[in-house]
Amino acid sequence: MSDKLIIFDTTLRDGEQSPGASMTKDEKVRIAKVLEKMRVDIIEAGFAIASPGDFAAVQAVANVVKDSTICSLARALDKDIDRAGEALKGANSARIHTFIATSDIHMKMKLQMTPDQVVEQAVRSVKRATKYTNDIEFSPEDAGRSNEDFLCRIIEKAIAAGATTINIPDTVGYNIPHQFGATMKSLIERIPNSDKAIFSAHCHNDLGLAVANSLSAVLNGARQVECTINGLGERAGNTALEEVVMAVRTRQDEFDCDTNIDATHILSASRLVSSVTGFIVQPNKAIVGANAFAHEAGIHQDGVLKHRETYEIMRAEDVGWNANQLVLGKHSGRNAFKARLIELGVEFDSEESLNEAFRRFKELADKKHEIFDEDLQALVSETQVVESEHIKLVSLKVTCETGEKNQATVVLSIDGNEKSMTAETSGSVDATFSAINKLLDMQVNLQLYSVSNVTQGTDSLGEVNVRLEHNGKIINGQGADTDIVIASAKAYLHALNKVLADTDRAHPQI
Ligand code: KIV
Ligand code: ZN
Repeated sequence: MSDKLIIFDTTLRDGEQSPGASMTKDEKVRIAKVLEKMRVDIIEAGFAIASPGDFAAVQAVANVVKDSTICSLARALDKDIDRAGEALKGANSARIHTFIATSDIHMKMKLQMTPDQVVEQAVRSVKRATKYTNDIEFSPEDAGRSNEDFLCRIIEKAIAAGATTINIPDTVGYNIPHQFGATMKSLIERIPNSDKAIFSAHCHNDLGLAVANSLSAVLNGARQVECTINGLGERAGNTALEEVVMAVRTRQDEFDCDTNIDATHILSASRLVSSVTGFIVQPNKAIVGANAFAHEAGIHQDGVLKHRETYEIMRAEDVGWNANQLVLGKHSGRNAFKARLIELGVEFDSEESLNEAFRRFKELADKKHEIFDEDLQALVSETQVVESEHIKLVSLKVTCETGEKNQATVVLSIDGNEKSMTAETSGSVDATFSAINKLLDMQVNLQLYSVSNVTQGTDSLGEVNVRLEHNGKIINGQGADTDIVIASAKAYLHALNKVLADTDRAHPQI
């Protein structure tokens, strides 16, 4: 029988560290529910001490998700461990993940601590975490550039203090596969009590090698991989969950382990994370890119039609493609709507938000005859906007005529007061944003504006993503509508509401 490979998803923590990928508590809960449905073993829900918002998000995920273990990151500091323990109180199964840097450069330049002090602090933190849970993960940060003898020393002590998982991070994405695999093997062989812990790989993608390095670690004894949906993460990102899961599953002839993941939820998780963060998935991205299973060349199509395996190594439907059958229409009732959303991993926290989503569904069904799963997901993203929505779109009127300037009249409700403004420029979206800017006078810079179709056809919902910069911070917004100018206004207001709700948070690794 093959071993189990544990999947530790850190989309909500390391993924969120990517500038612009910050998520609200409700968005995190929504993603966590999909990860739970996918049977992810451990969900790292955040870094509890970073801000009150991060604490609340870890707590909310711990209270709602019951089938996956919920984890919070904590630096090797008493106050961090206590805050993580507190946030995780409601979890069925809780893990504390504590870390401290071990490379010479980090210890000297960042921590300004001696190796002995680093060992002492690591041991103290692991011991403190045992007050809250017996599931403790320890990471020697920047292990990929740390001295192996020192790694052996600190890891042995961390295990003796109570760590049950030892994670080996290639924090800066410097390692290459054969070497990272050799390090994993050597650590497991050399550390006398290594059999008391699961060894894990946590790779960053700066050289495009995160998945390859993680797989090499698995081939050399790692039994946990830390990863994110779509490979989301700072700089070039983290290891992509979907690629690791499908590589191990497709090449069972090479791996003597497999995951518990229900891969049919991969595509919806990918779309949800992309829509919430505004990080678009490139068409040629493995597994979840729009072209991942498309056979353009005639010769390939011919081969696939005759015998699928001639050119396909995986089945598209196994990762959730082609599951977008027509689900609901104009005459579908509230119960059918609710039931379908539950199947998609979406639950409503109040009757009011269900009613609002159903109202929007009926509105959409009037405009668009066929409603697909993707439409429902976009519609729900729309309904579950930021918790404190100061600004609401009341109405938008746009006129455009060839050879004339475009005019937009926007009516907004700002903290309950309705205000209207008209602007004229060379484009409908630009005129709409100008009118909003005149009404709000907020100091934001638009960094990204993109439109994509949610399904096929000209009656498709258009999904718009905007990215704003405000006081050095990056914030995303999204909106969907069958009209792309209205979708644009919704996306812009979504981001502006987030700017108003934004609170300061600490970065764990600075
Ligand atoms: O990349 C890294 O080193 C991390 C640690 C906190 C595990 O994310
Ligand atoms: Zn990381």
